[in-house]
Formats: sequence, C-alpha cells, structure tokens
Amino acid sequence: MHRYFKAKITGNTPLNEQFRLLTLIPLSEIEIPSPGQFYMLQASSALVPLLKRPFSIFEHQAGTLKFLYRIRGKGTSCLAGLGMDDTINVIGPLGNSYPEPQEDFIAVAGGIGIASLLPLLSRFKKKAYLFYGARNSDELVMLNEAKSLSKEVAITTDDGSEGQKGLITDVLRDFLNSSRITYHALQIYACGPMPMIKELSSICMNKGLRCYASFEEHMACGVGACHGCVIKVRRQNTEDRTQKWIYERVCKEGPVFDVREIVWE
Ligand SMILES: Cc1cc2nc3c(=O)[nH]c(=O)nc-3n(C[C@H](O)[C@H](O)[C@H](O)COP(=O)(O)OP(=O)(O)OC[C@H]3O[C@@H](n4cnc5c(N)ncnc54)[C@H](O)[C@@H]3O)c2cc1C
Ligand code: FES
Repeated sequence: MHRYFKAKITGNTPLNEQFRLLTLIPLSEIEIPSPGQFYMLQASSALVPLLKRPFSIFEHQAGTLKFLYRIRGKGTSCLAGLGMDDTINVIGPLGNSYPEPQEDFIAVAGGIGIASLLPLLSRFKKKAYLFYGARNSDELVMLNEAKSLSKEVAITTDDGSEGQKGLITDVLRDFLNSSRITYHALQIYACGPMPMIKELSSICMNKGLRCYASFEEHMACGVGACHGCVIKVRRQNTEDRTQKWIYERVCKEGPVFDVREIVWE
C-alpha cells in the first residue's frame, strides 16, 4: 500500500465556471479512504506552485479517486489546466475521518464543504437531514446528488437565488427549535467556512449537541511536519485532570474535530 503515489488524470470536468470534478487513477495500490480524509494533490509539474494542495476525498470507487474542487488561486487554477492522461503526485489518504453516525444525523455544508460531506451521505444513505448553504445557486454544486442521498434537505443562499435567503445556521436553529423531530440524539457533521463552524459550535453548546466539523486550514506539508496548520484545542491534563489548551495540527490530529474542543479566538 502506498501513501505517496502517482496518479493519472482521467477526467477534469467543469461543472460550471468555478467548480470541477477531478478523476484520478492511482498508478500503485493505495489505502482505502474514509469520509472526511483528504489528499495532498500536486497542482502542476512546474516549480510554482511548489506546494501540494489539500482536497477532501469526494468519491472512491472501482479504483478511481474523485475530488470536487473550486478554482480559487494559483494552485487550483493550475489543477484546472491539467488534462487527460497527465500524471500528478499525490499523498493520501491523510488525517482522521468523521466518526460513524449511530443513527440519523444532521449534516451542515457551507459551499464547497459539500465535497467532504458527500461521501458520508453516500455511505449512510437517507440518514441525513442535510442543511446546505451557499452564496448563490451556482455554488450549490452536486445538489441533486446530495438530495438523492439525504432524508431531508434544507437550502439557503445569501442572495436568495435558490432555497431560503439567509444563513444555513439560522435555518438549522429554527429546525432544532421546532418540535417536529426529537433531535437530542442526533450528531451534527459539518464542513464549511470558519464563521459557519463557529456559529454551529454556539448552537451545539446551547442545545447540548455533539458536532464534528472538518477544518479547512491553510496547509503546507499536509503530513504533520511543518506545524503550519495548527488550531487551539482544549485537552485534559493527564496528571491533575484540569483543562488546558494546546495546539493540534489540522492535517494530522484533524481535519475533523469535536467543536466543543475548539478554543475560539
Ligand atoms: C483538509 C482540507 C480539505 C479541503 N478540501 C477541499 C475540497 O474538497 N475542495 C476544494 O475546492 N477545496 C478544498 N480545500 C481548500 C483547498 O485546499 C484550497 O482552496 C486550495 O488549497 C487553494 O489553493 P490555491 O493555490 O488555488 O489558492 P491560493 O492561491 O493558495 O489562495 C487563494 C485564496 O483562497 C484562500 N484559501 C486558500 N486555501 C484555503 C483554505 N484551506 N481555506 C480557506 N481559504 C483558503 C486564500 O486565503 C486566498 O484568499 C480543502 C482544504 C483542507 C485543509
Ligand atoms: S500542514 Fe504541515 S503540519 Fe499540517
């Protein structure tokens, strides 16, 4: 089994102007990824950008790996320029994964965060109440797939171009406040922008819910060596059982953390 491997591109399909679906065939035997894990992908064979970029596993099937990505800057623009039969260097699967839901669960995706959550929806079909928010309808990628895999779906966009206008965390709060379901046993799984995760953390504290969120910190090495991706987490002192905070690496101890452990600044 190889964690550092070369892979051949067999698809790099535009979904719209900003989003692409990248399909790779590893050229050696690889470990099977779990939902929430990620890979470091080489964006270009040129020297710049030098660093690989992190992407969540979107699908692993029949020997292929798929990644859903948004074109943001230099790395993802280079990635978008790669074509069929190009070969890239890959490291993965890396990091921890989402703990398995025991029963129905709530998934909260902000924008491209859907890439990390879709494998969970796919593994636990029709078990998720999905809350999916994006800036506008163009950014609600893979919506039909997400709908077909979920029990129920609530959608918001910032501009109201699809679903309810507003923030997905407000819709989740209303859902939890309504007595339609007994939510106390439901765990929340989330991936999206930091303000969304922070708001979710406050909702979960308030309601006594457990929430596992994937953190998309900037990464350099992706394998725990550079400490460039640390976040502050609360941990118990083993000696006197008091609480202390320490830095943990999103690429190694994460990317999935229980949000109750995060020290928000
Ligand atoms: C564990 C993990 C999983 C990820 N999974 C996916 C995925 O499945 N699909 C996807 O499209 N993206 C994902 N990302 C984010 C992706 O890695 C970045 O968008 C990418 O590295 C940007 O590279 P770039 O060279 O194009 O942009 P850069 O030129 O490096 O930056 C362009 C802009 O994007 C911002 N940016 C860069 N990296 C991040 C980041 N990690 N978080 C927030 N803002 C960032 C920069 O601040 C800058 O404003 C993931 C990140 C992590 C850490
Ligand atoms: S990116 Fe280097 S330690 Fe996490």
